[in-house]
Amino acid sequence: MHASSGSVAHKRPDRPAVRPGAIGAGVLVFLLMKQGGTPEKRLTSEKAGRFTESVIREMTRQAMLHGAINLAQGFPDFEAPDAIKQAARQAIADGVNQYAITWGAKGLRDAIAGRMRATQGLAVDPETEITVCCGSTEAMIASLMAVADPGDEIVIFEPFYENYGPDAIHSCARPRFVRLRPPADADGDWAFDERELRAAFGARTKAIILNTPNNPTGKVFTRDELELVRDLCLEHDALAITDEIYEHILYDGREHVSMARLDGMRDRTITINGMSKTYSVTGWRVGWAVAPPAITDAIRKVHDFLTVGAPAPLQEAGAAALALPRDYYLRLAEGYGARRDRLLPALRGAGFKAYVPRGAYYIMTGIDAFGFADDVGFARHLVRDLGVAVVPGSSFYSHPADGAQQVRFAFCKRDSTLDDAASRLRRLRPGAPGAPG
Ligand SMILES: Cc1ncc(COP(=O)(O)O)c(C=O)c1O
Repeated sequence: MHASSGSVAHKRPDRPAVRPGAIGAGVLVFLLMKQGGTPEKRLTSEKAGRFTESVIREMTRQAMLHGAINLAQGFPDFEAPDAIKQAARQAIADGVNQYAITWGAKGLRDAIAGRMRATQGLAVDPETEITVCCGSTEAMIASLMAVADPGDEIVIFEPFYENYGPDAIHSCARPRFVRLRPPADADGDWAFDERELRAAFGARTKAIILNTPNNPTGKVFTRDELELVRDLCLEHDALAITDEIYEHILYDGREHVSMARLDGMRDRTITINGMSKTYSVTGWRVGWAVAPPAITDAIRKVHDFLTVGAPAPLQEAGAAALALPRDYYLRLAEGYGARRDRLLPALRGAGFKAYVPRGAYYIMTGIDAFGFADDVGFARHLVRDLGVAVVPGSSFYSHPADGAQQVRFAFCKRDSTLDDAASRLRRLRPGAPGAPG
């Protein structure tokens, strides 16, 4: 398993994105070559050397290799709604098979604006404020590349969705991590220390990335917490880039508040969202960034030269998806709530310390009871010997040691899949490392 290298590679958060002397190196190579020297040429970029492939996606390959149940990567093993699959087929049959407008098909942009008004009361201009991308993954990297310069700092709560580490490197920004701490009692909520957050902001802060509901912790940031972030953004003239891809997956009466809704934030927020999680179509690769016109202009330029555009027929189907009635979203959240409540007791029964997620579809767990030296060895044991793939906790932290006693489970799966995983996990023996029953 590659997990350790995956987590180690972006464990260099403190390293400047551009090393001092990097510019001089090019001149040195030139001089050596002029003198007939044979300097060793580096054929891959220094940036690409600073992170490895995704541990999450690697775990999916491990699951396939070992015939394991995949509770690692966050994609459903059940079908997307028939109506939107039909809309995609129809769009292809109707000839929507050429490039869409680079920044997004008009029908989808109108639908996104309509939903932002309906759910968050936000008035968004689809002509100047929305960029449709290849998934929220591209929306995030395009946004960061559009706003960050070398030397800029980006504040990121950790544990964090692993893409943000490489995203920061690609955009030449330096991440400043602020710790989310697990609750002392597994039924409580993950929390951050206000002083740490304040200390992370400074003159170089360009933006904070905020993911709520949060992957991997399941934390749903409260209005008070968001207001504190807002105050810091205003004080330091910084942007908020909010990843709201799990906005409809909420439990226990939690409410999703878009940062752009808070006073003062409409003009300094980039709101990122997409179809993957809400409509169970992670393979379609349709997401978007919503931002004020001047920022959207920059995002659209980066997006244009990264990918030209997202799949045209799937954008057409996206407009149909966003028109689904309110009931659809209620059932989505209810369904995930039931899955959470199915997996949580199974994990606790097997010996995990399982933190209750308030949103999104992951459960972060503590593995201290099993006596493994680290999360990677434990995840290897689970996938090879018990047939359950999970994500080692270290891949969500800038320092692997911080996640060395945690692993993440995804529960966006059918009941039968979760039950099957639960029965395999019953073979774990807390206190007996490497000794499945
Ligand atoms: C927080 C978060 N953002 C973004 C993504 C990727 O979204 P997309 O499929 O729209 O690229 C994921 C996928 O797991 C995620 O958890």
